[in-house]
Amino acid sequence: MTQYPFPEDFIWGAATAAYQIEGAWDEDGKGESVWDRFTHQPFRILNGDTGDVACDHYHHMPEDVALMKELGIQSYRFSIGWPRILPQGIGTTEPRGLDFYDRLVDELLNAGILPNATLNHWDLPQALQDKGGWANRDSVSWFTEYAAVVFEKLADRVAFWATHNEPYVVAFMGYGDGTFAPGIASYPQAFQAAHHLNLSHGKTVELYRQMGYEGQIGIVLNLGTFHPKTSSPADVSAAERLESLINGMFLDPILKGHYPGNLMHWIGDMAPEIHDGDMDIIQQPIDFLGVNYYFSQTVSFQPHGLLKLTSKPKIDPGWGMTLKGWGICPSQFTELLLHLRQDYGNPAMFITENGTALGEPADANNFVNDQGRINYLRAHFRAAHQAMAQGADLRGYYVWSLMDNFEWAEGFDLRFGLIHVDFDAPDRKRTPKASFDWYRQVIEDNTVYG
Ligand code: FCB
Repeated sequence: MTQYPFPEDFIWGAATAAYQIEGAWDEDGKGESVWDRFTHQPFRILNGDTGDVACDHYHHMPEDVALMKELGIQSYRFSIGWPRILPQGIGTTEPRGLDFYDRLVDELLNAGILPNATLNHWDLPQALQDKGGWANRDSVSWFTEYAAVVFEKLADRVAFWATHNEPYVVAFMGYGDGTFAPGIASYPQAFQAAHHLNLSHGKTVELYRQMGYEGQIGIVLNLGTFHPKTSSPADVSAAERLESLINGMFLDPILKGHYPGNLMHWIGDMAPEIHDGDMDIIQQPIDFLGVNYYFSQTVSFQPHGLLKLTSKPKIDPGWGMTLKGWGICPSQFTELLLHLRQDYGNPAMFITENGTALGEPADANNFVNDQGRINYLRAHFRAAHQAMAQGADLRGYYVWSLMDNFEWAEGFDLRFGLIHVDFDAPDRKRTPKASFDWYRQVIEDNTVYG
């Protein structure tokens, strides 16, 4: 059996997000978020599921941290619910909301687990959406006001900060095709929202530096590779357009200081309005790039839609698809990390999310023997190891997710957890899966076998 040892200071973790696990959607003064509004509308979410209760983590937090300790993770990535802190998005703060995260951070530190906090994992306060949300340039100052409140309370103890999680998804699924909250279908708004997300990221990094904290700050992007189906110029340029939309709209301004030229040319009048100085602010040096890797795509030209392309999941030989419709392709994970090394100046990186939902069933005792998840994670850990062996500067890895949770438009149907959650039981009973034990051993040995 081959051994893949990881560096001594490599950080193993697990990730969640506020709306997906917390529940308590209107407790302790919390305001409404765009996801509360969206899930309460008919036919937005599979089976009409909502995050009203979810895993009820808000009331089970110490128990969940105890499970993290048992798992042996060195860091926990979670997000902070903006409408818990500022129910109207700006203005009056809610001390009970701040207290919850204060207790979480202390509980983690007492368990020897480094907090890794994301400020925006999609749950924008609805009151701000009513003013245009991320498509309004004021969102930049709304976000920094919120960040300042959170930093003041927590940044003395939080090791790692991310400004946004997957701004691509917020902009292009929230405002572009409307699949996700706030459910707006307008590409001009989407491109403008993307720019404001980038700008608010830069402003927040700047603020964090000014406030003088010692932790690290970065951003979390969903990235993949994009290969043309054939070498025809039409397919090649289609693949470049998709890469520019998903990777380039965020990677390029943050790490290179400009938007991808091919895409800006293609969208013409829909290009975002950019003010003097914006690009310098966006290009603030970051301490790490958070990479969420789930899938890669093969792209070809087709004559419909804004970008005139269609894509198919790329799948490695011997692998298949996940329930989400994502192809399993660890080889492209290695390729992506090497691409970031080569073409984006080899930033310090964390894998901030990687994981899968394969529909592996629970037995009568709620135990899930999820060998499929174990195989998936092993292959992706090895792929990351391979990229590191070739020089990619990868510092840590967070599995998505610590526990089964509310998977956005698919509700509770898709289970990504290392821990099974019984959503029918009033206590939302937690039961570690086989992958929990397997991952605990990986962390203990700091080595992947096989
Ligand atoms: C990512 C999200 C995360 C989770 C996984 C499966 O796009 O960041 O919240 O839903 O997908």
